[in-house]
Amino acid sequence: MRRAKITVIGAGNVGATCAHWAAAKELGDIVLLDIVDGMPQGKGLDLRQASPIERFDSNIVGTNSYDDTAGSDVVIITSGIARKPGMSRDDLMSTNMKIVRSVTEEAMKVSPDAVYVLVSNPLDAMVQTAWKASGLPTNKIVGQAGILDTARYRAFISMELNCSVEDITAVLMGGHGDDMVPLPRYTSIGGIPVTELIPQDRLDAIVERTRKGGGEIVSLLKTGSAYYAPAAASVQMAEAIIKDKRRILPCAAYCDQEYGVGGYFVGVPCMLGKNGVEKVIELKLNDDERKLFQASVEHVKELVGWVEKNWQ
Ligand code: NAI
Ligand code: 2OP
Repeated sequence: MRRAKITVIGAGNVGATCAHWAAAKELGDIVLLDIVDGMPQGKGLDLRQASPIERFDSNIVGTNSYDDTAGSDVVIITSGIARKPGMSRDDLMSTNMKIVRSVTEEAMKVSPDAVYVLVSNPLDAMVQTAWKASGLPTNKIVGQAGILDTARYRAFISMELNCSVEDITAVLMGGHGDDMVPLPRYTSIGGIPVTELIPQDRLDAIVERTRKGGGEIVSLLKTGSAYYAPAAASVQMAEAIIKDKRRILPCAAYCDQEYGVGGYFVGVPCMLGKNGVEKVIELKLNDDERKLFQASVEHVKELVGWVEKNWQ
């Protein structure tokens, strides 16, 4: 049986950690690409040498050439600059738009049938950039943000209740910014609504910490941003696509009529399978939730407006 092929573009913190998680899960053969000469080759070889110890049979190739990425099933794009203390995700826009556009164009020449998972920030605008650059149908382009943001929210809930993370399910919507919208009404622990287990003021504090979760890590690391959880989230998406699991996960997916968004990629619950986004799931939001979601979508629209204005 042919093994799946996963290309990770950008072999920095997030990209290399994606390769690590994907290899450990034996999702397929992995190509790690970067513009820096020798670095992806070195990381690829190092990871390959971990395989006898950790017992995985993935082939891992580090490269600077798109030829090695040909025929990929999934392409994860992590290339670009990351934020430092004092920067917002939006400050990365002009540099990352050029990088994401060019790497998408290059990858598309040799992997036109892949599903593209975007990670570079500002996430929602970079998904739109990759979509424009690729000419792909909207289902084949999807952004990673919601799984990470929901994982932070779930981790904080487990820390609050001193309970297993395994039993916590949650949904979060909107853009990947501090105005993201965690939905306590759709959060449960072992089937019990979170509102029955955590008092409102503590839950509000958890929601606020989740919104600022990326910034919290940046201010601790000082030299870059989070990568273990972002990479685990990206690989969860790759796994759902490669194994056609049809998982329901929060991702940045194209919404037109859905939620009245009008043609933008934003965080919504969707079904991920072999065709990428198989379906966007429309929840019935209450008035407060809808207002928060709309405010977040307006922010995404502003960022995408910048992309449109500066596209030459
Ligand atoms: P990093 O700086 O460690 O790695 C970025 C890599 O991209 C570098 O190795 C660089 O050489 C490479 N690169 C730059 N231009 C390239 C090009 N044209 N072709 C190929 N490779 C190129 O940064 P890190 O921490 O891995 O973050 C990567 C991106 O992911 C950032 O934009 C960051 O903001 C974003 N991010 C997004 C998250 C999300 O949830 N969506 C979570 C964490 C990070
Ligand atoms: C995060 O949320 C940097 O977007 C990245 O950690």
